[in-house]
Amino acid sequence: MPSNEEKPTPELKRIMVTGGAGFIGSNLVKLILKEHPEYSVVNYDLLTYAGNLVSLKDVEDHPRYRFVRGDVSNLHDVKQAMDGCWGVLHLAAESHVDRSILDSGPFLQTNLIGTQVMLEAARHHRIKRFIQVSTDEVYGSLDPDDPPFTERNQLTPNSPYSASKAGADLLVRAYVKTYGLPAVITRCSNNYGPYQFPEKLIPLLIRNAMNDQPIPVYGDGKQIRDWLYVEDHCRAIMKLLEEGKPGEVYNIGGNCEVVNLDLVKMVLAELGKPQSLIKFVKDRPGHDRRYAMDTGKITAEIGWKPEYSLSQALPKTVKWYQDNAQWVQSVVSGEYRDYYRKQYGDRS
Ligand code: NAD
Ligand code: TYD
Repeated sequence: MPSNEEKPTPELKRIMVTGGAGFIGSNLVKLILKEHPEYSVVNYDLLTYAGNLVSLKDVEDHPRYRFVRGDVSNLHDVKQAMDGCWGVLHLAAESHVDRSILDSGPFLQTNLIGTQVMLEAARHHRIKRFIQVSTDEVYGSLDPDDPPFTERNQLTPNSPYSASKAGADLLVRAYVKTYGLPAVITRCSNNYGPYQFPEKLIPLLIRNAMNDQPIPVYGDGKQIRDWLYVEDHCRAIMKLLEEGKPGEVYNIGGNCEVVNLDLVKMVLAELGKPQSLIKFVKDRPGHDRRYAMDTGKITAEIGWKPEYSLSQALPKTVKWYQDNAQWVQSVVSGEYRDYYRKQYGDRS
């Protein structure tokens, strides 16, 4: 018999996280297990080149965690994994613009069809909250004097990646309007932090600089991105899971616009490496010039704002990659080397 003092265990809410073995997903899964005892997690991930269970080694035996390998575009498997879930955090995607330029097929399959399948399964299971993790790239590109993107900007994507994410966002909207699915769309700016695959700018440049390899800078290097520390992003997602209004879109950003070349120089300085490693290479086709986010809505409605500045979190990130060279080594497969050759081999 439980004594009178014993508190009843509150019922766990089960959340399905798709793409939980990727960069943001693995940070998010660990944050949930550490800071949210009210949730259990089903991590549903196909383990493509970008998904690595080694990123989740610390939590693989956690009592509130379960991993299911599967494809978000397989309705049967998704329905099975989603059974009993209260909420869904949908992050699984093909996420790298340069890869989408080399071959857009997997982007449409995973990002568009995969999202349609996720929405169908969520409808079937009467999911209470569905978060579509999207990107600022759906808004297109800003000119230097334009105001930052608000949630009311038109969707004018310029790459196959951003077009596939914009398509997915429109599907989410349609499921809200047509079926009343309680979904929220989040659009965030460029993330950085631990466990990011070394094809994206920051980890690629840290890795190359550490190995005294050239740093490929596209075009004139004057493009601008808004940088958000991954932990801040994960906290925003959790707040929106709990407090976001169904049917609404929320921008998430770092309020930190930086010119690419300046960022490259910051990382080189942090590592004590010379600027002579910088190598200007042919520009990315359709390269968006500038992204910037107006985060007024999420701050006003939910009270979220980023806690980390670039000057705090960039050195932390650089140090993480220095201390975790083994992780980088373990995720860089033969497939990655093949991609690197295709992407940079004949670009000079
Ligand atoms: P990532 O590429 O690091 O990870 C993607 C994960 O999805 C991997 O674990 C991969 O195995 C999994 N996956 C891919 N295809 C799948 C499929 N068909 N079925 C199941 N799993 C599959 O991506 P990330 O950087 O962590 O991004 C996560 C989400 O956030 C994406 O939806 C992306 O569009 C969005 N986003 C990312 C950034 C960023 O800066 N990284 C910025 C804005 C938005
Ligand atoms: P990336 O990390 O691919 O993110 P996104 O394209 O989604 O913003 O690139 C960030 C910026 O850095 C973008 O302007 C392209 C540029 N870039 C380079 O100059 N060189 C590189 O090798 C890479 C990967 C990116």
